[in-house]
Amino acid sequence: MQFPKAMTPTTGQRAKSATPDAWAAGIRRTRSDDVPRELRAAIAKFARDRVVAGESAQRSAPLSSTGPLGVLNLDALRTNVAALRERACGLPIRVASKSIRCVEALRWVLDQDGYRGVLGFSAAEAISLVRAGFRDVVVAYPSVDRFALQTLLQDAQLLQEITLMVDSTAHLDLLASLQRETTQAAADLRLCIDVDASLRVAERALGDRLHVGSRRSPIRTAPQAVALAEAIALQPGMRLVGLMAYEGQIAGVGNRRDSAMGLVMSALQPWSARELAQRRGEIVAAVRGIADLEFVNGGGTGSLESSAADSSLTELAAGSGLYSPGLFDGYAHFRHRPAAFAALPVVRIPGPGWVTVFQGGWVASGPAGTDRLPVIAWPPGARYGASEGPGEVQTPLTGPGVSQLRLGDHVFIRHAKAGELAEHLASFAIVDGDQVTTLWPTYRGEGWVF
Ligand SMILES: Cc1ncc(COP(=O)(O)O)c(C=O)c1O
Repeated sequence: MQFPKAMTPTTGQRAKSATPDAWAAGIRRTRSDDVPRELRAAIAKFARDRVVAGESAQRSAPLSSTGPLGVLNLDALRTNVAALRERACGLPIRVASKSIRCVEALRWVLDQDGYRGVLGFSAAEAISLVRAGFRDVVVAYPSVDRFALQTLLQDAQLLQEITLMVDSTAHLDLLASLQRETTQAAADLRLCIDVDASLRVAERALGDRLHVGSRRSPIRTAPQAVALAEAIALQPGMRLVGLMAYEGQIAGVGNRRDSAMGLVMSALQPWSARELAQRRGEIVAAVRGIADLEFVNGGGTGSLESSAADSSLTELAAGSGLYSPGLFDGYAHFRHRPAAFAALPVVRIPGPGWVTVFQGGWVASGPAGTDRLPVIAWPPGARYGASEGPGEVQTPLTGPGVSQLRLGDHVFIRHAKAGELAEHLASFAIVDGDQVTTLWPTYRGEGWVF
């Protein structure tokens, strides 16, 4: 269902019917003010003079001044921080670090009103973040990383700040065996139960055959959640402090009615929100009878309104809306300002009407399709070549937008997903107004690979 016409799901090869238009997907959603003139000027100056007003330039100066350069538009980030806060209707937002992957950006966002705590993605990452001064990190996915878990178990401060995700007694068994191996457990392990928030159409008749949403936890009902909560209560040295139920089918799949998928999702999402509000409410009430829950987390960038309306949640999660990557243009009820880019330098001109930029083939995770390609944000009118697409080390571009480009000029792309961009770059050049004010290392630039 998620494969666009131009791709075949079985091979991932372009189908015969593919048209150049399919490859022009990169320009469809671009708006003229996505890459403001001042931002382009700041990056051009940076590339020319390599001038950064700020100390961290010395610490993390890039080897290359021309690119590919990571770029964060601070003004857009400020706008997005405020817009997400408004959409959260007063609930605090826990920042999904997988969608940021930059320590300084996380710190900056967490300094803003309305943002509290980190929703991390790995136990090792959580440890690194707490050691870097962050507090209250919930690891949103179960971990079987013995080394990281042993490190956590031996450190009272880490145990106080980090909450681990579980969805089965198998997770408890693993944690209990590590606790036994640890000579001196410094404090209780803080645990959170992950509840499956997907929509199952006609579940009684069809089971999980019509499952809409991500396949996460086996815990879907109040009795299942209560059984796991009771099992945790019986474990010495473990404490249930939270519940999380993330509705990816609302929070992470666009609902604009200009695609088949968007049409289907626009019909399913309200239904799913209603089903989940009922089921999540029952689960939370039942588990609160057993454990003193500090938080109940749900939602993501695409679902802030419907999640905030669910009174069983005490907090929301969001990350992607801060950078506002390509896939998040596919929502009908919001569009945040594109804040994160890569600036790719033009390295050659293969012929009239064409330019070639360095790098570019940073295709996003998920079901393969043209919606996973980077969006060409500037210049307007540029598009991928139909036979090559965005390449491993170079990307030919054509279309009316490229005629003005010269060697060394930059083309701006947006990744389809938020945090994955940071995995390709050592740092973000922070543009405030018309200046690159500093460089913020990405996780990759820090040497953080999780
Ligand atoms: C558990 C959980 N919560 C929230 C989110 C939402 O994050 P974002 O706002 O970056 O889409 C995600 C994203 O996958 C997630 O896995």
